[in-house]
Amino acid sequence: MAISRRMLLAAGAAAGLMPRTGLAATTVLRGEPVMAEILPELLTPMLGFNGTTPGPEIRVRQGEALDVRFENRTGEPSAIHWHGIRLENAMDGVPGLTQDAVAHGDSFEYSFVAPDAGTFWYHSHHRSWEQVAKGLYGPLIVEETNPPIVDHDITVMIDDWRVEQDGSLAGGFGNMHDFAHAGRLGNQGEALASRSEVRLGDRVRLRMINAATARTFPMEIAGIEGRIVALDGMPLRDPEEIADIVLASAQRVDVIADVTGDVMFNFPTADGPLELSRIKAVVENAFPLGGEIGPLPPPVLARPSDVSDRELSLRMQGGAMGGRHAGEDIWSFNGVSGMQQEPWATFRSGETVRIALVNETAFAHNIHLHGHHFYEISADGSLGALRDTTLINAGESRAIVCVFDNPGNWLLHCHTLGHQASGMKTWVEVKPPPV
Ligand code: C2O
Ligand code: CU
Repeated sequence: MAISRRMLLAAGAAAGLMPRTGLAATTVLRGEPVMAEILPELLTPMLGFNGTTPGPEIRVRQGEALDVRFENRTGEPSAIHWHGIRLENAMDGVPGLTQDAVAHGDSFEYSFVAPDAGTFWYHSHHRSWEQVAKGLYGPLIVEETNPPIVDHDITVMIDDWRVEQDGSLAGGFGNMHDFAHAGRLGNQGEALASRSEVRLGDRVRLRMINAATARTFPMEIAGIEGRIVALDGMPLRDPEEIADIVLASAQRVDVIADVTGDVMFNFPTADGPLELSRIKAVVENAFPLGGEIGPLPPPVLARPSDVSDRELSLRMQGGAMGGRHAGEDIWSFNGVSGMQQEPWATFRSGETVRIALVNETAFAHNIHLHGHHFYEISADGSLGALRDTTLINAGESRAIVCVFDNPGNWLLHCHTLGHQASGMKTWVEVKPPPV
């Protein structure tokens, strides 16, 4: 992967900076073709929102309603999914499950309350392996009612593009060879920060979002000292040392830290670290905030019962070099490929369910559940981090525990979007609470 620092062509946008909106309860997102610069001085036709990719950063305060009018001018059907938000099912943006795809020229009103503060993102959920790979996504930040005090709150969108030498995006979005392997990996890595300069001694919050359709990014951050405070938008009970940051596609990591030098986002490779982005440290902050970096306010989620009401297992099967596999498509869950008429499982509201995610394939999968967060179960059996997307490496397994308390039909799929497109997806039904 070569370095790329992309310039957005929005009027006035500085090199490598993302467009931002203020706190806004009402927003229009116009999906449309845009031009961006991935390779220096070459224009790349892409898809974006309101003239840019990533689309504008949407910020809303926890507990406040967000109203977004999605105007589809992309030239093809589309829909927007609000990744990680525990919202009302009808607003989840999944064509075929929660709504019809929005035709070109039409629009759709999304309206929901974000119950959790944290770092989320929005993206197309129609032919996502192609539309997301073309740039149809953006950051969605839900602010705490009492946010931790920092000098700068910085969003960093991470991606890798597959570009040709002339700057155009490589075609073959539905390439079956990619789908059967690790998905559409790019050849241009990128970490696009919403700010290009900070001061030495500044306290910063870094919200990293991996928007790639396939690539898992290990990320080494130089020039800061601090803590990891949240994963997938959900606060950690005990903030962790900044080490071994890994973002599978769709995952987020929040860091709060003090600046000790240029802040560099490095992707480790066999030939040494590759700098994906750098936020320059200029001058010195004469009045550093300092002080301990404590946990963010805890999320308000239903506690799982000590003994699970149900135990299920979800076996990932198929793919290149895969073992036994009965599904009709490249990938399957428990031998069943793609969406079926019936849900994989039906839960009564509030059920605590333990699911063993068993990866029987030769590739990693990052499994995403819509409308809920779940606990990763640690090796010692305790409740680990709350996530909405969990990475399970080839041949490994991980148990998760989820309280299914959000009624509706929810997708459960691999967020390596080519895997999802070729069979690795299903859905669950959560019954409404009894009246
Ligand atoms: Cu990020 Cu089913 O989506
Ligand atoms: Cu997968």
